[in-house]
Amino acid sequence: MMNPGNSIQSIDTLFLIIIVVSIVMLVSITIAMIYFVFRYHKKRNPVATQIKDNWKLEVIWTAIPTIIMLLFFYLGWEGYLYIRNVPADALVVKVEGKMWEWDFIYKDGRKSKKELVIPFGKPIKLEIKSADVIHSVSIPAYRIKVDAVPNQTTHAWFQADKKGEYDLFCTEYCGTGHADMLAKVKIVSPEDYERWVANLPLPKVLKLSELGKIGETLLTKNRCFACHSRDGTRKQGSSYKGLWGMNRKVVRNGEEIDVKVDEDYVRRAIEQPGYEIVIGYNNIMKTYQFTDDEYQAIFTYLKELKDIE
Ligand code: CUA
Repeated sequence: MMNPGNSIQSIDTLFLIIIVVSIVMLVSITIAMIYFVFRYHKKRNPVATQIKDNWKLEVIWTAIPTIIMLLFFYLGWEGYLYIRNVPADALVVKVEGKMWEWDFIYKDGRKSKKELVIPFGKPIKLEIKSADVIHSVSIPAYRIKVDAVPNQTTHAWFQADKKGEYDLFCTEYCGTGHADMLAKVKIVSPEDYERWVANLPLPKVLKLSELGKIGETLLTKNRCFACHSRDGTRKQGSSYKGLWGMNRKVVRNGEEIDVKVDEDYVRRAIEQPGYEIVIGYNNIMKTYQFTDDEYQAIFTYLKELKDIE
């Protein structure tokens, strides 16, 4: 097993070897070409010589590139295995990309944005997810670039040996806010790390009123959550997260308009799902009917869901 930090070294070494081999090839082929153009110009070589077969030459030009390619493959494979296999004692930090920011989630669901703080001297495993479209976590200092894919968890790991501060980018074009998906990776001592994590707020839990609970039960019974997530995950329909009171872009009669999510909007969305369609979605929902009391319960649930953010 390689030493920590050697994923950087193995990647850089391979990169350097490929560059050097490419330069040597480029230069020698170019020189040979220029030499041949000059040496065998019609003036110096009026009658062309016909050459047929040269098995020694053929063996050499087959064997040498094969060996070089196999060397590239071997080094690449070794390095790949190393960066894919996470040490068992790694500290797990969840990284979630969404339009257009990163959430870093530590133990007990404590969360930070804009900065990923980790301790040195310990392998760190990043468990990477996306709430919407494809993003990509890139930490150039540790040669990390791993996509954040909806409905999938990908991973990366690295280990730092000393304090430092590095950039984290999104390297998959994900919409207008793509360039804002920047964060800092801060590497601190294990003691500072513990202190820092303990200071992060614990996640709020959803506390529903009696009416809110009735609303939740109604949505559960009608299988609304099958297509509409509560946590921002993209499903067939748009998520309920942060829904109440938001302004959203919808298509009504083929026209793009802004609407405010209020009681009237929710009622319309339930009774005539095809009337206003949220941009980026297709309407596949059937029509539902509720009584006024039931509607009040659903509104209450959505309002309380909004409050936990
Ligand atoms: Cu997220 Cu680009």
